Amino acid sequence: MDVFQIEGGHTLNGSVSVGGAKNAALPIFAATLLTGETCRIEAVPDLTDIRFMAKILRYLGARVDQTGPHSWEIEAKEVHHRAPYELVRQMRASVCLLGPLVGRLRRAEVSLPGGCVIGPRPIDLHLKGLSRLGCTIDVRNGYVEVDGSGLRGDYLYLGGRHGPTVTGTANMVMAAVLAPGVTRIESAACEPEVVDLCQMLVKMGAKIHGIGSHYLKIEGVKELKGCQHSVLPDRIEAGTLLIAGAMTHGEVTVENVVPGHMRALLDTLESCGVECEIFPDQRQITVKKNSGEYKPVEIITLPHPGFPTDLQAQMLALMSLTPGLSFITERIYPNRFMHVPELLRMGAHISMEGASAVVKGVDQLYGAPIMASDLRASAALVIAGLAAQGTTWIQRIYHLDRGYESLESKLNALGAKINRVDESLLPSELLEDA
Ligand code: EPU
Repeated sequence: MDVFQIEGGHTLNGSVSVGGAKNAALPIFAATLLTGETCRIEAVPDLTDIRFMAKILRYLGARVDQTGPHSWEIEAKEVHHRAPYELVRQMRASVCLLGPLVGRLRRAEVSLPGGCVIGPRPIDLHLKGLSRLGCTIDVRNGYVEVDGSGLRGDYLYLGGRHGPTVTGTANMVMAAVLAPGVTRIESAACEPEVVDLCQMLVKMGAKIHGIGSHYLKIEGVKELKGCQHSVLPDRIEAGTLLIAGAMTHGEVTVENVVPGHMRALLDTLESCGVECEIFPDQRQITVKKNSGEYKPVEIITLPHPGFPTDLQAQMLALMSLTPGLSFITERIYPNRFMHVPELLRMGAHISMEGASAVVKGVDQLYGAPIMASDLRASAALVIAGLAAQGTTWIQRIYHLDRGYESLESKLNALGAKINRVDESLLPSELLEDA
């Protein structure tokens, strides 16, 4: 297993381009099961999760070829209905196979993915939605078994106690596009990744109205055709890189971004005193150099267009070096604070009050051996390591490789000093923990 060795204290400067969004590419890959024709997908990030999804699609019978570093061709002439635990447990997002399998085959058997470090992630809304669409559902032996022989359009409400469900919306849309009749989804998720999926489905011949809003109307069609689609830029990767620039008080430009997808982050950064220059036409955002101190903020994570939970950990890292008291509340995943104990090991001052972190900014973080626990927590620890004094060793960085393509190369090109080394090179006192 690889570990990161980060030498802190180097200011980031320069430009960096972001890749396609993982959370759009995964359901888009699943959507290729809705047609027997070829789909060509571009701007696909090169990530472990994408390779997991490709493996599952192949298992289900699709021809899946990587035709370039970021280009894939998928043709699902024949499709089987069962995605087994051995494959699904490797990636939670496999649940988004339910919708396309039901749409295409009127039948699905998908393993429940099991525990997740960021807290419970139920799929009750997915199941409620499918049952509203005329499916019969059994949860048995760890599998969701769906009989979709009665699939037809209907009215659905997808709001849960934490707001609309992103993957649940993707699943319902993918089942509904091939369901006879009209489906109306209220409290649909309007995340840019859901919009991107809907836009691809429209290219395939689906009839979806209200894309980008909380109300979607879908007129089922008999069949869909192949298409070519380019995945939208990853707003979370872009945000992570901007926060990293701010954390080291450097001047960093992220390229290939859609600023309109990032308003909540940009507004929060502005409240902190981080100056951002936005160039929508050039699809660029620059975090300007700031040698002064930032201001504390209050952040509450919410469904889009609110502040994204996937940038909470990274902002918390920034706030740990910002004088004063910041308050960060999780409304999507109340337990998503695995990064906090690790940041404490680096000298941060954070206390937890339920689903809120109270962060008292310190003058300095110090390099330490720390452990990555999930994708975004790992990104936060990297950001903290960049600004810390001394060397930070991060173990279990495989979490990072699931959702960031070559994060260390991108940061190093901006002036960071991050080495990816085999864990056998860890200082001996850390090896037993590895
Ligand atoms: N929820 C339910 N019931 C459901 C579904 C969701 O109660 O049936 C709850 C969840 O427990 C959570 C909230 O609703 O509290 C939102 O969950 P949602 O279904 O929207 O999340 P998701 O689709 O499973 C996607 C991203 C996550 C991202 C969330 C929120 C993918 C593959 N994953 O998850 O991304 O945090 O939306 O924006 O798209 C990440 O990239 O690190 C990541 C975790």
